[in-house]
Amino acid sequence: MTMTPLVPGATIGVLGGGQLGRMLAVTARQMGYRIVVLDPSARCPTAQVSDGVVVGALDDLDAARHLAKQVDVITLDTEHVPATILAELETIVPVRPGASVLRTIQDRLVQKEFLDRIGMPQAAWAPVGDATELEAALAKVGRPAILKVRRAGYDGKGQVRIEPDADAPAQLARLRGELAVAEEVVNFTREISVILARGLGGEIQIYPIAENAHRRHILHTTRAPAAMADAQRTRAHAVAVAVAEALGHVGVMAVEMFELADGQLLVNEIAPRTHNSGHYTYGACATSQFEQHLRAVCGLPLGDPRALTGAVMVNLIGDLWAAGPPAWHHVLARPEARLHLYGKDAPAPGRKMGHIVLLDDDTERSLATAEGLISVLTPRS
Ligand SMILES: Nc1ncnc2c1ncn2[C@@H]1O[C@H](COP(=O)(O)OP(=O)(O)OP(=O)(O)O)[C@@H](O)[C@H]1O
Ligand SMILES: [Mg+2]
Repeated sequence: MTMTPLVPGATIGVLGGGQLGRMLAVTARQMGYRIVVLDPSARCPTAQVSDGVVVGALDDLDAARHLAKQVDVITLDTEHVPATILAELETIVPVRPGASVLRTIQDRLVQKEFLDRIGMPQAAWAPVGDATELEAALAKVGRPAILKVRRAGYDGKGQVRIEPDADAPAQLARLRGELAVAEEVVNFTREISVILARGLGGEIQIYPIAENAHRRHILHTTRAPAAMADAQRTRAHAVAVAVAEALGHVGVMAVEMFELADGQLLVNEIAPRTHNSGHYTYGACATSQFEQHLRAVCGLPLGDPRALTGAVMVNLIGDLWAAGPPAWHHVLARPEARLHLYGKDAPAPGRKMGHIVLLDDDTERSLATAEGLISVLTPRS
């Protein structure tokens, strides 16, 4: 692995052209790097702000090789690129994070086994291959339970809940024969995420902890820095650092956690990339998560993750477009508001279309402002 830093002028390849790649590309180009993206759509959010696009599926090895030959390093917009493809690409150009990291993360069962192996606390879980295994799994995790497909889930897709009196095999059938895991339903007091970056030399920088609220399994708001006792923050940091080091991760990584009433922290899942709950860093922190990720994958020194202000992020979901484009003047009229739109041309319900960041130390007030904005942007039915 080359340790020579990639300086401005170098070309970054991105596998997947969603909003994370887009914000990485905006930052990379600002700093004088070139960006080439692989995505099935030539008009994907990242391609709109890139120097080049290779059109192809994320599991198309020929297309991925074509990208690899044009770039100095490859990184990812999504953890759902098959690790086998990444292993092939590693023979051509550095891939950061590497194939071994993705192999551990992209299958929920392998990820949970990894967390158990390194002694990280998580909710009770069990594998579910078929109806027979389901019974044993529910006996272990109890009811209610959540079934999650092992591969390719996001924003709660590929998840079903099994209530105490539900027909469990019928719920499993909704996953269409996909291999799954069952999880106990955690009665958390809040959800947090620890976002950090690990550089090529193993150095780590940690962002202020984010406190997250979900709606219909999709992230709704993030507030940061989360109010937290020093000792608890130290414990959360230790978990995330242990995960990043055990993985040998390079780049930004998020560890989603459930916080329980007694202070226990359970790992929900690991995202080996920039994260929706880190969007607040773009505007609120000295170095955004996108610049930090770029620095890590280029082998540069990491930047300062310090928050310069408190912040609240609220996601803009496709439902807001049901009656046409939302009335943005409500957002643009607020001096503390930063509007981010991802350039997606098909606003489907539940689809992440953009977000707003409110920059203000009074995050309680900003949470109220965020709800007010969502309310005025929601079409009247
Ligand atoms: N075992 C659980 N107990 C209680 N709530 C849960 C559990 N698992 C998931 N949830 C809720 O659903 C949300 C989404 O779950 P999870 O993070 O597993 O989904 P995902 O589809 O991978 O989403 P994403 O990748 O967008 O974070 C969690 O943030 C949490 O609010
Ligand atoms: Mg999640």
